[in-house]
Amino acid sequence: MDKLLIRGGRRLHGEIAIAGAKNAALPELCAALLTAEPVTLENVPRLQDVATTLKLLRNMGARAERSEAAPETVAIDASGVTSPEAPYDLVKTMRASILVLGPLLARFGEATVSLPGGCAIGSRPVDQHIKGLQAMGAEITVEHGYILAKAKRLKGARITTDMVTVTGTENLLMAATLAEGETILENAAQEPEIPDLAELLIKMGARIAGHGTHRIRIQGVERLHGTTHRIVPDRIETGTFLCAVAATGGELLLRDARADHLDAVLEKLREAGMAIETGSDWIRLKSSGRPKAVSFRTSEYPAFPTDMQAQFMALDCIAEGASKVTETIFENRFMHVNELVRLGANIVVDGHTALVQGVPKLSGATVMATDLRASASLVIGGLVADGQTLVDRIYHLDRGYDRMEAKLRGIGADIERIK
Ligand code: UD1
Repeated sequence: MDKLLIRGGRRLHGEIAIAGAKNAALPELCAALLTAEPVTLENVPRLQDVATTLKLLRNMGARAERSEAAPETVAIDASGVTSPEAPYDLVKTMRASILVLGPLLARFGEATVSLPGGCAIGSRPVDQHIKGLQAMGAEITVEHGYILAKAKRLKGARITTDMVTVTGTENLLMAATLAEGETILENAAQEPEIPDLAELLIKMGARIAGHGTHRIRIQGVERLHGTTHRIVPDRIETGTFLCAVAATGGELLLRDARADHLDAVLEKLREAGMAIETGSDWIRLKSSGRPKAVSFRTSEYPAFPTDMQAQFMALDCIAEGASKVTETIFENRFMHVNELVRLGANIVVDGHTALVQGVPKLSGATVMATDLRASASLVIGGLVADGQTLVDRIYHLDRGYDRMEAKLRGIGADIERIK
């Protein structure tokens, strides 16, 4: 199993190009199942979760390949799909596999998708995906760990989910594009990956309005067609590198980055004392000394993203003063805390809140990554810690970051992958 060896204590300085967003790439690859014509996606990040999705699509009989000449371009041809199924072996490694459910059901009238298993960051049910598809007329049963869904043709419906769910909104949005009549999704998620998906679907011939708000209206059409679409930059990768340089000190220019998708995080970085300038596709951060502790609370977009909680907490660990971090989206998303404590951080967890007392220095240790964003927070911890930090189980990191250690090395970090 690969590990990362980090020799911390260096200031970081330089430029990084941000990759396409993982959380847009996954639903958009699945959206290609909605048509028999080829869909080409550009700016597809090189991640394990993308590789898993491509495997899932190929397993159904689709062609899904990266272009040799331009590896960030993926062409999907779902004309030959023979088995609308997502088996346990693939779904168990990636919960987002549930995103094939809506498209398969809408185009083929049936789908068999393994229930995603328990996840390290708490129980993550898919009841809202199922409830929404049932409201559109699907017959759904759960047997032997599989969701079995059938519908001659889905029918438009007005659906209000119990909570704001990102992949739930995406699944229902994709399904509704081919349904008969109008679907209204109330309480829809507004994360930037959703308007990006909607824009792809519109290019494919879907009729969608209100994406990016809490109410999305979809007029179903008979069929969709092929197109080409460029995936929006990854706001979480962007935020992760900003936190890294805010923690180590130094200066960073991020290219191909969208500042307007990261308002809440940029605001908190400014509160921490960072100088930040932005343009339409770049962000520059300059740190002048030790950060100030900043309290924050995760919530749905446009508020502070849960996917940035662990990384920002790593920054708070070495900040001047005390901070309070509240997690409101997932029930068990403080698993990085014990590992950060191994690096010398002072953190006490009380339910959904973590109280962080900043310390002047962390000290290198062996730590274990437990989930994707927790891994990123340990890398940040290692970059600021004195001495050596070994981050174990980095397959979590590879699920969602495109060559992170190479990008960090490029701005002066002493970090290497050990096989
Ligand atoms: C997506 C993101 C993930 C991010 C999360 C929250 C992708 C591929 N993943 O995950 O990176 O951390 O949004 O921003 O885009 N819930 C239910 N029933 C459901 C669906 C959700 O109870 O049917 C609950 C979940 O347990 C959780 C909350 O709703 O507590 C929000 O989850 P959701 O927005 O669905 O997260 P994901 O879409 O899985």
